[in-house]
Amino acid sequence: MKRLFLTTLLSTSSFLCLLPLPQLQAQTIPDWENPSVLSIGKLPYHATLQLPSLEKECKEIISLDGQWQFHWSRNPDERPADFYREDYDVSQWDKISVPGNWQMQGYGTPIYININYPFAKNRPSVTTEPPKDWTAYENRNPVGSYVTFVDVTKEMLSQHLILHFGGVHSAFYVWVNGRRVGYSQNSMSPAEFNVTDYLRVGRNRLAVEVYRWSDGSYLEDQDMWRLSGIFRSVQLWVRPQVHISDYRVTAEPNADYTKADVKARIALCNTGSKGAKRLRTVLKIDGQTIAGDIKRLAAGDTLTLSLEYTLHHPQLWSAEKPHLYPFSLELLDGRGTVVEHFDYHLGVKKVEVVGEVFKVNGKNVKLRGVNRHDHHPLTGRYVDDATYEEDIRLMKQANINFLRTSHYPDREYLYELCDRWGIYVMDEANQETHGYGYANHEMGEDLAWQQAHVDRAESLVKRDFNHPCVILWSLGNEGGVGPNIEAMYNKVRELDTTRPPFYDSDRRYSAIWDDSYLYPDDLRKNARAVADKPFMMREYAHAMGNSVGNLQEYWDVIYADSSICGAAIWDWVDQGIRRRRDGGETFLYGGDFGDKPNDGPFCINGLIAPDRKPHPHYYEVQHVYQPLQFVREADGTIRIINRDSFTSPHEYDITYDTLRYGAETLLNVAARLKEDTPWAKKGFAVAREQFVLTPYSFGLADGSSSDGSTPVRFALQSPSTYVATAPGGSVTIDGTGALTSWLVGGQQMLQAPLEPYFWKPENDNQQAARFAQRTAVWKEAAAKRTVKAVRTEGNKLIVETELPVGADLTIAYTLVNAGCIKVEMDYQPTAADIPLMPKFGMRLRLPASFTNVCYYGRGPWENYPDRKSAAFIGQYAMPLSDYETDYIHPQDNGNRCDIRWLRIGHEKSNIRIDGLQPLCIRAWDYGEEDLEDVRHPREISRGRFVNLNIDLSVHGVGGADTWGKRTLPQYTIDGNQPHHYGFLLSAEK
Ligand code: GAL
Ligand code: MG
Repeated sequence: MKRLFLTTLLSTSSFLCLLPLPQLQAQTIPDWENPSVLSIGKLPYHATLQLPSLEKECKEIISLDGQWQFHWSRNPDERPADFYREDYDVSQWDKISVPGNWQMQGYGTPIYININYPFAKNRPSVTTEPPKDWTAYENRNPVGSYVTFVDVTKEMLSQHLILHFGGVHSAFYVWVNGRRVGYSQNSMSPAEFNVTDYLRVGRNRLAVEVYRWSDGSYLEDQDMWRLSGIFRSVQLWVRPQVHISDYRVTAEPNADYTKADVKARIALCNTGSKGAKRLRTVLKIDGQTIAGDIKRLAAGDTLTLSLEYTLHHPQLWSAEKPHLYPFSLELLDGRGTVVEHFDYHLGVKKVEVVGEVFKVNGKNVKLRGVNRHDHHPLTGRYVDDATYEEDIRLMKQANINFLRTSHYPDREYLYELCDRWGIYVMDEANQETHGYGYANHEMGEDLAWQQAHVDRAESLVKRDFNHPCVILWSLGNEGGVGPNIEAMYNKVRELDTTRPPFYDSDRRYSAIWDDSYLYPDDLRKNARAVADKPFMMREYAHAMGNSVGNLQEYWDVIYADSSICGAAIWDWVDQGIRRRRDGGETFLYGGDFGDKPNDGPFCINGLIAPDRKPHPHYYEVQHVYQPLQFVREADGTIRIINRDSFTSPHEYDITYDTLRYGAETLLNVAARLKEDTPWAKKGFAVAREQFVLTPYSFGLADGSSSDGSTPVRFALQSPSTYVATAPGGSVTIDGTGALTSWLVGGQQMLQAPLEPYFWKPENDNQQAARFAQRTAVWKEAAAKRTVKAVRTEGNKLIVETELPVGADLTIAYTLVNAGCIKVEMDYQPTAADIPLMPKFGMRLRLPASFTNVCYYGRGPWENYPDRKSAAFIGQYAMPLSDYETDYIHPQDNGNRCDIRWLRIGHEKSNIRIDGLQPLCIRAWDYGEEDLEDVRHPREISRGRFVNLNIDLSVHGVGGADTWGKRTLPQYTIDGNQPHHYGFLLSAEK
């Protein structure tokens, strides 16, 4: 390619003459802008040889992680081009942590962008001039130059020395002692180089030059922070000259699962200059030793031998019962000495697509899934072992059994955890060309990019082949259609027949039909229409901000159709970057670093926060994904529906708790672990349900603070003000029907009036769905009410108003006693086609000191009409700060449904609200207006008052996507229907 291009240029001599010299030089295509150069001197990909958790026990591995010398340049022209030389002084350079992304350590700018490329799109160039305000204009292609020193002994030098990079973004050159060793791209897969001939006894200089972008970046256009550098571990492998270069172990069970033939295919390689004799490989598994002898392996040769063993009545591996057979592989030299020893584990399982059904071990399993990006708020793309463990623990606790490693291979340890703790994995190739459009032809058909595509499939399957957790190989995400995808597909099939390929953008090359982000009803219909393959939503329930409504509706459809194998939520963790700003810790997102172009908070769509704190919707997932469902029959018996395939309900302790709150009786049922597991202790509830045995009686008799005294009448005080006075207090209603003053024992309980209020701010899901525009008439509807009549009816003051939307609104107040007011509101539409109501209810503001909350309703975490199944009814107490949810991108939050009563205040004074029917209540230490135009929780102006919304209902959070889909109709409030509600407002000590 490179040469061809130059010759063409040389022949157009007239054009050439016009070029000034520097540009002429620039015409030499660098490797990192040449899609036909994927690597130079890189060794073939192979399986992870040693179980990641046991790497420390592997004598062959020397970690080179630590503090390296580092220099950062804005673009290739400014880089210290000869820094790799032995005489180049780097002693004054900065230090950087390896592994790590340089943007996370103070160099350059992290860029968050979803679909578009962060550089000017002009493949294979990544240095074409972009618009002037783009980050990539000044920093055209930043280069990180790294140097470290490695000590090598004579003994080591007699062996075979391999330099291993776990992951480098995006392309890099390696030099040892001033000599160039090689080059690599394909940033999420390991790159290895044979450095035996480059090293010497004593101190060696290792130099690595990393380019932020390369032609490989055209295939790495994933929706994530664009970060760079040596972000995974670097190791020096000191290997015998005759060694195991690769191995693959399969163990497919036979048709009736009575036995499984274990086949270990082991590749041996002799890198020495002498032939090797009488080698022996040994597989130890299941208490057995299986050996294979090789008479001779000539110098420079490689051979593959097979060791076989039959497991009788094998214990199968599944996400439910992740049974593993640990094994070791050893290589013995001619003297019988063990020269290599690796430990790994094997899972016996069968993955099949049978017609429309996806099966694991013969069962129609359901994949209760989530997508996950490799993200850490402090270290970016490098995620440490403890965080991996936390992630998989939280997934298991949430009953998630399926993980898609969107959109590239993660670090090896994650797969080991999924093997051990039990999670099915869709392992995804690092291939996304979304900048050319979903299912684009440009990248799918341009054969100059075919090898680059195939390289990503090959590196994926070869590295992770031996992980039992992998059930599907994904060819990537939102990429091309055409021959380049076909070539990836063929490569996967050539390398592995035991696990099918999956792909979203070109369904010809997928064993499963994907159609993502559907409404539940469309899922039902579309899955029916596909008759030749299983169906899944590789992504659904876009969990951005306050979201994940109607999750149960999805699963009702999925459980009812055996051809739908499951669905995976987008996504696991908010990709926020933690920084100190304005005197506190905050999570930053697109645009916060001045990065341009950017997609703002669109990377904040997790079930958990960047620091791994579960969001309220995490618990909804836990509940809807639970393996057992409980149904209470008319005769009171509890029926259990088992959604698992390999576990019986008897394997859990089923517990029953009867709770009594006044007259209401509740039954809480749970299925609990009988034993400790690696991810939860004995007693942990894997499934829960609540049943109301005797219902709460709403109304005056129940929960009223009435002291039995006779209610007082309202009297006209000024032309339009009505006052009711009782011993110890008074209430004032103004001419618009607002309750403007409530004096109890001389204390003013209100900071702003109690009034009708129908507005709620948007949440992220509602923005592109144009919620605010569609419901705009409601924003001022209550404020613009006109009073038609004010009258008293016995003790009641009735204010009849008309709303500009075309409806009558009647508000009625009764002063039960000085400390108790009954409030009722009635809505009757008079016009047609009134838009949906954001909420039906009222609002008031209390003094800022009213920050202790105690209530009886759904909780403890935030819940909304379409996301409340996990929030059981109970009595909960918490500070106001916990009643609120501080979303990283501020938005509507904090609702609790089915509230019977709520008390809010401080040690000396409280107000209590008793519903005359269930209520929805939101309470904040700021107002609706304070959420407008703020980007981060710390920017919200707080503490002037407590804002309390007391509603009959509120519009649901929505559960499909964040680019236009709406909340399901059953969770909205129809403005064309009458609504009525009421509550008691009491003052309490
Ligand atoms: C999907 C895509 C994900 C992510 C998501 C939106 O279509 O596959 O990578 O961009 O949309 O958050
Ligand atoms: Mg994308």
